[in-house]
Amino acid sequence: MQCFIVTGSLILGILAVTRSSLAATCTITTYNEDIIKDAQANCREITLNGINVPAGVTLDLNLNQGTKLTFQGTLTWEFYEWDGPLIRISGTDVEINGATDHVLDVRGNLWWDGKGGGGGKTKPIFFSANGLKNSIMRNILVKNPANHAIWIEDSDGVVAEDIYIDSKDGDTLGGHNTDGINVWRSNNVTIQRLTVYNQDDCVAIKSGTNILVNDAYCSGGHGLSIGSVGGRDYNTVANVLVSNSQILESDNGVRIKTVYGATGAVTNVTYENIILKDINKFGIVIEGDYNIDTGSPTGVATDGIPIKTFTMKNITGTVKKSGVNIYVLVKSASDWHWSSIDVTGGGKTKKCEGIPEGAGVTC
Ligand SMILES: *[C@@H]1O[C@H](CO)[C@@H](O)[C@H](O)[C@H]1NC(C)=O
Ligand SMILES: *[C@@H]1O[C@H](CO)[C@@H](O)[C@H](O)[C@H]1NC(C)=O
Ligand SMILES: *[C@@H]1O[C@H](CO)[C@@H](O)[C@H](O)[C@H]1NC(C)=O
Repeated sequence: MQCFIVTGSLILGILAVTRSSLAATCTITTYNEDIIKDAQANCREITLNGINVPAGVTLDLNLNQGTKLTFQGTLTWEFYEWDGPLIRISGTDVEINGATDHVLDVRGNLWWDGKGGGGGKTKPIFFSANGLKNSIMRNILVKNPANHAIWIEDSDGVVAEDIYIDSKDGDTLGGHNTDGINVWRSNNVTIQRLTVYNQDDCVAIKSGTNILVNDAYCSGGHGLSIGSVGGRDYNTVANVLVSNSQILESDNGVRIKTVYGATGAVTNVTYENIILKDINKFGIVIEGDYNIDTGSPTGVATDGIPIKTFTMKNITGTVKKSGVNIYVLVKSASDWHWSSIDVTGGGKTKKCEGIPEGAGVTC
């Protein structure tokens, strides 16, 4: 039996190489490591069509410069308890595309147990765009990620556009920590036309510089966040613009979270033209007291990660009666400019501490 499988894959491998020298596009329809390696080496255009990736395997694509990768049909991953990622892509000048009929169906419900990354089953991160340079990913549909959906990490010059992350099923089936897009140790990242239905951050910028988020639609999660920043091996966020976005029925709207007792910096951040609707807990929350170990705030801010040059403009909308419109708890912040902030409906109040003089904001 085993012998048969090995023979089969060799034949397929030879076919793939032959095809690549003839056709511009190499289409892969079954997961096979050798075929994928051949395609990486020999094909300018690779289509992954309806493949099922075995349990505990990363679909690992280290693409040649200029490769065009297309997802087609339904791609699935077998269940296995591990950290993942389930897919990892690196390369320079690459284009990652989803065909109109495609879906990356993670089937996260197989892992979901309401505990997210904090216990229960070990849940893999889904998609790591790791070491991408001057590259674009567009028209990607991720369904039901087990854990975080997409990480853009150690990358420079990435455009992620028309990304749709649908984890609605997680609302009733125990989805948790299903972050939309996380940015880590990356520069020059543009995220635009993003739609996320999930149960954690829509976007979380954890570290990096020159990051734009424009035209995001976030529903059901924890909002558009910076952080948590601090306590890791890279603790700087600088030059961020988040604009023209909507956040609905989420725990938070706009959030910056820095780690208690840690060092780092959050500099030159602008949020503008953001609409909030029916936010559950905090319309705007800027807090410098996050305990990275327990995942809870300490209630006391420390000054190791000052939030400098922070503009908020035209942030409007509603918080539920059970929530707080604006909550600020920071230390040694400076150069804040807040204007046209109109967040209403929240029946509770919380601290408003550490806002620099002349910032134009009250809680
Ligand atoms: C990223 O931005 C920096 C600073 O603006 C620039 O020097 C660098 O060339 C950019 N990298 C890419 C890949 O665009
Ligand atoms: C602040 O960040 C924005 C958005 O990334 C950028 O366009 C601008 O050049 C930055 N300003 C400075 C002084 O670096
Ligand atoms: C405020 O932001 C909303 C949402 O993006 C936008 O529709 C509106 O035009 C903005 N208002 C101003 C005065 O810029």
